[in-house]
Amino acid sequence: MSAKSYKIGVIGGDGTGPEVIREGIKVINAAAKKHSMTIEWINYDLGGDHYMKTGEVLPESVIAELKKLDSIYLGAVGHPDIKPGILERGLLLKIRFELDQYINLRPVKLYRTEDCPIKDKTPKDINYCVIRENTGGLYSGVGEIANKGTKDETAVQSMIYTRKQVERALRYAFEYAKANGKKARGIGPNNTLALVGKSNVLTYMYDLWNRLFAEIGAEYPDVKREYYHVDATCLYMIASPEMFDVIVTENMFGDIITDLAAITQGGLGIAAGGNINPKGVSMFEPIGGTAPQWTGKNAINPLAAIGSGALMLESLGEKKAADDIENSIIKSLQSGKIKSLAAGKMGLTTTQVGDLVANNL
Ligand code: IPM
Ligand code: MN
Repeated sequence: MSAKSYKIGVIGGDGTGPEVIREGIKVINAAAKKHSMTIEWINYDLGGDHYMKTGEVLPESVIAELKKLDSIYLGAVGHPDIKPGILERGLLLKIRFELDQYINLRPVKLYRTEDCPIKDKTPKDINYCVIRENTGGLYSGVGEIANKGTKDETAVQSMIYTRKQVERALRYAFEYAKANGKKARGIGPNNTLALVGKSNVLTYMYDLWNRLFAEIGAEYPDVKREYYHVDATCLYMIASPEMFDVIVTENMFGDIITDLAAITQGGLGIAAGGNINPKGVSMFEPIGGTAPQWTGKNAINPLAAIGSGALMLESLGEKKAADDIENSIIKSLQSGKIKSLAAGKMGLTTTQVGDLVANNL
């Protein structure tokens, strides 16, 4: 077997980010050994502490280096003593935009019935995926405050989408649904792609999205199309999550519904994600935040970071290693040793959960 080797950038970031990433690296290294891969981890000391020490958020030289890597593994970004937006826009969103990671892939999977806060829902019911457009919409950063400080003050934050942005996101989603929908996985009668929007209010926006959804969808006869308003989607995600297969949505709606989705799978401790540029450098991160109250306590759940590591290996073409990690997560959960997915309630430390998953590989 020829040994593949990968260069992966590591940005532990703030709060509990470095702690969960440490466990992720442990598990990925174990999987790499088993599957004869070599991984070179390149550490980037970025985030709140670095910013407070140096005033530097993300130097251009680092962006240039990141663009040459095989992938990026990120913990979390955000600091209680730094004005909201500086690190989020300057580091996390900047990487997403500069590296054109136009898809945010967020699988929603319940592994154990007991982790679901919804009555009578089982792993069979909560097994879908949200594809969030990751570069446009309200995140475009276009807007202004006019007449600031006067009584005519007006704040504008524009929701912007170009045809190209919508097209590439939808195309990715159709391809994803075709390859990974419930029919493709042998667990349902169709591969279904649901567009989530708000066409009854955002009439310009959904003129574009709906039109392209139908147009591109015509090229995918084996993917069934559905449309839901985002508010109704929230209700369905709780009342009947089994109806979903693959969801595609714009940036802000995707941000919001994936936090809701996360709690249905047991919380942010288990929710994995990836910022994907299908032809470039992608970045994988747990979807939860920095959890500053848990920093340094060795009590945060690293499973979301470990799961994100599996998504990273899959994107590198290491499907077997990725499946191994996911199966080991499942085995570790089924062992009963992890009492809860919530920080501080796991019955094990962060390190012990990482060890358990690494050993179950
Ligand atoms: C997420 C986060 C980010 C987002 C923040 C930290 C900028 O909430 O990845 O979901 O809004 O995309
Ligand atoms: Mn979010």
